[in-house]
Amino acid sequence: MSLPPPAVVARLRAAGCVFAEDEARLLAGAAGTEAALHALVDRRAAGEPLEHVLGWAGFRGLRVAVDTGVFVPRPRTEYLVEQALALAAPDLVAVDLCCGTGALGAALVDALPGTELHAADLDPAAVACARRNLPGGHVYEGDLYEPLPRALHGRVGLLLANVPYVPTGEIGLLPAEARLHEARLALDGGADGLDVLRRVAAGAPDWLAPGGHLLFETSERQIPPALDAVVRHGLTPRVAQSAEWSATVIIATRPASAM
Ligand SMILES: C[S@@+](CC[C@H](N)C(=O)[O-])C[C@H]1O[C@@H](n2cnc3c(N)ncnc32)[C@H](O)[C@@H]1O
Repeated sequence: MSLPPPAVVARLRAAGCVFAEDEARLLAGAAGTEAALHALVDRRAAGEPLEHVLGWAGFRGLRVAVDTGVFVPRPRTEYLVEQALALAAPDLVAVDLCCGTGALGAALVDALPGTELHAADLDPAAVACARRNLPGGHVYEGDLYEPLPRALHGRVGLLLANVPYVPTGEIGLLPAEARLHEARLALDGGADGLDVLRRVAAGAPDWLAPGGHLLFETSERQIPPALDAVVRHGLTPRVAQSAEWSATVIIATRPASAM
């Protein structure tokens, strides 16, 4: 079904989908039959994220598999990947921590095919997606660094960690698509949103190679405490911001000399 019936567009528009024509085209492309299309439209009209209904999200030109409940990679996170690519050295060893679908790792490997990539997440549903999106990578299930092979100690050139960073008290303010359809584990960063980041920062010096970089997203308001979280573990931070992507990324570097 490539051309959506006008009734589908009207139904999506009535359900509040701003880009009803585009969504209808995508849903029609994903459905093999009219009955299947109606089932997808029902789900979308009931408020499921488009990416969950389709089963994939676009990220840096890739189609990334996204299962129900798994965090949908956000367009602004492409900026984090751009920052990472600008820092990549030859024979790169990279880790996508809190990988979700593995979108960041997949984009990195797509741009730098020789990369040795390791990815990990605590959520089994996310790990299952990441295994599909990173067929040549090593994907582990577990708490932060715990499942990574010890052989990576001191060898990681790029540590990408798009951790949950929404303060617990603000989860209720998120759009319903996130609040109701993405795992709480993927969103909730604790009282000030930085609980997971603090644990990532504490572990980073053991895993980073000398001169290696930890990159994570944060909000504008969280910049000062996030900088403090990395500085206290001996990392040297800088802030990169993009108005175009509405994104703030902190790049925290392990000094090249021994710590
Ligand atoms: C904001 S989502 C980001 C997912 C992915 N990096 C992206 O940008 O699309 C955060 C991810 O962290 C994972 N997570 C939360 N706490 C974790 C922990 N203690 N250890 C490993 N993963 C964790 C969640 O399951 C979720 O997939």
